[in-house]
Amino acid sequence: MALSDPRVAFGDASPGGPAPVAVSVRPHPGAAAVPAAPAPAGGLEGPLVDRYGRVHDDLRISVTDRCNLRCVYCMPEEDMTFLPRAELLSFEEIARLGRVARALGVTSVRLTGGEPLVRRNLVDLVALLAGIGFADLSLTTNATLLAPLARPLAEAGLTRVNVSCDSLRPERFAAIRRRGDLATVLGAMDAAEAAGLAPLKVNVVVLRGENDDEVLDFARFARETGRVVRFIEFMPLDAGGHWERDRLVPGAEVAATIGAHFPLVPLGGHDAAPAERFAFADGRGEVGFISSVTQPFCGACNRLRLTADGAIRNCLFSDDELSVRDVMRAGGSDEAVADVLRAAVGAKHPGHAINEPGFLAPRRSMSMIGG
Ligand code: 5AD
Ligand code: SF4
Repeated sequence: MALSDPRVAFGDASPGGPAPVAVSVRPHPGAAAVPAAPAPAGGLEGPLVDRYGRVHDDLRISVTDRCNLRCVYCMPEEDMTFLPRAELLSFEEIARLGRVARALGVTSVRLTGGEPLVRRNLVDLVALLAGIGFADLSLTTNATLLAPLARPLAEAGLTRVNVSCDSLRPERFAAIRRRGDLATVLGAMDAAEAAGLAPLKVNVVVLRGENDDEVLDFARFARETGRVVRFIEFMPLDAGGHWERDRLVPGAEVAATIGAHFPLVPLGGHDAAPAERFAFADGRGEVGFISSVTQPFCGACNRLRLTADGAIRNCLFSDDELSVRDVMRAGGSDEAVADVLRAAVGAKHPGHAINEPGFLAPRRSMSMIGG
C-alpha cells in the first residue's frame, strides 16, 4: 500500500467508527477518529486486517529484554534493570502463539531481543517455530554470540540473520556499543554466510557526529561483501529518553552522500521490510534506508510484536498492549489467544506520531519491545 493512500494518512480517517478495543494507557495523538473496523472473523480464521486495510503477516518475537551490549542509542544508562525470568514466555508458550499466528495468516517471523542469543537454548525455539512452517524465520542479533551458533541455528530452520553493526572502526565500535568487539562481529558475519544464512543484512544506526562519517565506508562494505547495509534513523526508543532530533541523520541525507559517489537506482519502494531499497547502478550490491522518523512507512506496516513478557504490541511507538501470557496462563483456548491478536490489530492506529506536537516516547524501549 502506498504512503499516499488516503486510508492511512494521519487524522484522515472517517469519523464515527467504534473505539479501539485494546486497553490504551494513554491517548495516541493520531487516534482522533477511526473508520469502521472490518467485520471480525472468529475462531482461528485470518487474515489479520486492520481498520486501514493493512494485512498483518509479520510477527516480531522478542525472546528476552536482556543484552550483553550497551549501545548508546538503546541503553544509554549502562545499569539496566531486566525482567524477572518468570515473567518471560516459555518456548512452549511462544510456539503456541506462533501456531495461532500462523493460522491467522502470519508467514514471517523474526526473533529479536534485547539480544536474542543471550536466551539459553534459542536453537530449540527456532526448531519449534520452524516446525510450524513459516515462509521466513529470521533473527536480528548483535552477533557477539553468533559465530558458534550459526550452523546449529541454520540446521534448526533459521533462514536469515540481520546483524547490527554501527561502525567498521574498532575504537568507534567500542565507543558506540560499549561492550563486545568489531572483529567478533565481522567473524560472525562470515560464519553466518558459511552456514547458509544469506543474504545477510547489516543494520547501521546513523548518529550525527558519531558515525555519520562512515557512510561511504559502509557503502563500500556493501559493494565488496554483497551484504545489504541498511541505514537506520535514530528513533525515540532508547531506555532513558535521551533521543534528540539533532542526533538523527535523515535517510535522504545518507542516500545523497552515497549517491554522489556511487550512483544508486531505486529498487521499487518498500518491500515487506520497511527499508527503502536501492541497488548500486553498476550492479555491485544493495543498500537500504529505514527512515522511520523523516519518512514514516506506517501505511505499509504489516507487523505485530510479541514482547518477551508476552504482550502483543501493534506498533513500536504505541503503548497499547494486550497480554497473551495472561490469557494462556489463565487456561485460555487457542481461540482466546487468536482473539487477542485480532483485538491488537483491530486497535492499531494509522501511524506513529513522532512528528506531531504531542508525541510522547513509548514507555518501553526498543530492547524491551523487540526491534
Ligand atoms: N533507534 C534506531 N534503531 C535502534 N535500534 C535499537 N535502538 C534503536 C533506536 N533507538 C536498532 C538496533 C538493531 C535494531 C533491532 O534496532 O541497532 O539493529
Ligand atoms: Fe543490545 Fe541491540 Fe540494544 Fe545494542 S541495540 S544494546 S545490541 S539490544
